[in-house]
Amino acid sequence: MLEDKKIVLGICGSIAAYKSALLVRLLVKSGAEVQVIMTPDATNFITPLTLSTLSKKPVLVDYFAPETGEWNNHVELGLWADAFIIAPATANTLAKMANGLCDNLLTAVYLSAKCPVYFAPAMDLDMWKHPSTVQNIAKLQSFGNILINPGIGELASGLHGEGRMAEPEEIIGFIAAEIKKKLPLTGKKILVTAGPTYEAIDPVRFIGNHSSGKMGFAIADQFALMGADVTLVTGPTAQINKQPSVKRVDVTTAAEMLAACEQYYPDAAACIMSAAVADYTPVDVSPQKIKKQGNNLNIDLKATVDILKTLGSKKQPGQILVGFALETNNEEQNAIQKLQKKNLDLIVLNSLNDAGAGFKGDTNKITIIDISLQKTAYGLKNKNEVAYDLCQKVAGLIK
Ligand code: CTP
Repeated sequence: MLEDKKIVLGICGSIAAYKSALLVRLLVKSGAEVQVIMTPDATNFITPLTLSTLSKKPVLVDYFAPETGEWNNHVELGLWADAFIIAPATANTLAKMANGLCDNLLTAVYLSAKCPVYFAPAMDLDMWKHPSTVQNIAKLQSFGNILINPGIGELASGLHGEGRMAEPEEIIGFIAAEIKKKLPLTGKKILVTAGPTYEAIDPVRFIGNHSSGKMGFAIADQFALMGADVTLVTGPTAQINKQPSVKRVDVTTAAEMLAACEQYYPDAAACIMSAAVADYTPVDVSPQKIKKQGNNLNIDLKATVDILKTLGSKKQPGQILVGFALETNNEEQNAIQKLQKKNLDLIVLNSLNDAGAGFKGDTNKITIIDISLQKTAYGLKNKNEVAYDLCQKVAGLIK
């Protein structure tokens, strides 16, 4: 959820600032770009050097950067951030934020921030319960700022109670869940298939195809970025998912892919069948390696089950089913036939006559055709961008 997110982390002067080092490390590990801002007091608790080393960026404390003679532009920082996390947030900084005071860079950035602001208070239990703190927090929440509640435990004062800053892992989990809540496909299950299938001839040989799996993996990642619970049923491929939340189910044959799809399809809001499923499989699989005999070898093949057509015959009202058609001739006509024959909502046509389209490469050029036979043609794009276009189209159909 935090991958490629630009995060400003504001650190105030509290003993809990020592936990900020781990928070920075976890944010960076999640793929976020982190800009640390400290209040002058915070530098007494943890060194900027520790935090700049972990965040791989100079830490900002003052309005002016003496080393460059430049001004640290709080407006730019406030606009740059996808999220502003203030952790630890002291009673003093919360009071300033609630009242619009900006006597340091952190509070000035807060006033300029257009992004969601999360604050994780850290203070002694009496400060936490004080009516002024309670009022300030309520005021900050009424402005739309998001409170990450402190925990109960031993406090720096030696007292026991509420006021301990939430643990870095909790902060990350909380923010990831908040971001996910706002995504368009949160709570939706999506089934995607990818890659080729391999149909065994004997223990060492198979019938396969050149599908790399790249398109299906890009689609699965894109849906995950939109908040969906994605199950990716994939044939043999070297691809790996960028989004760790994608549930990967490995299969080899068309029959195994059918079984996996039948398991996950009933719960799916949408299914995108981008796998290149073998149309035929050997009638018999030789238990031993077939020896060379003469000049010719005939292998009897039988048709595999058309997975997409099977799913189309079971489609529930509201379910969205999408197929791919890789064609070499009569492209649109063939694609429309597949759309109708297999009871699909969309068919994604790619023509092998288009340079840069199809199986192996990093690019694709698609036309999406819907049931009213409306066509949307896209230019040559990399497969992640193609996945984005397709997922937007599918998301628009999901109720
Ligand atoms: N497909 C499937 N099961 C099969 C064969 C294909 O689910 N046994 C799916 C593919 O994943 C794709 C769509 O059907 O989404 C179209 O596949 P394609 O191979 O282009 O079409 P076929 O129906 O097999 O027709 P043909 O090979 O004759 O073009």
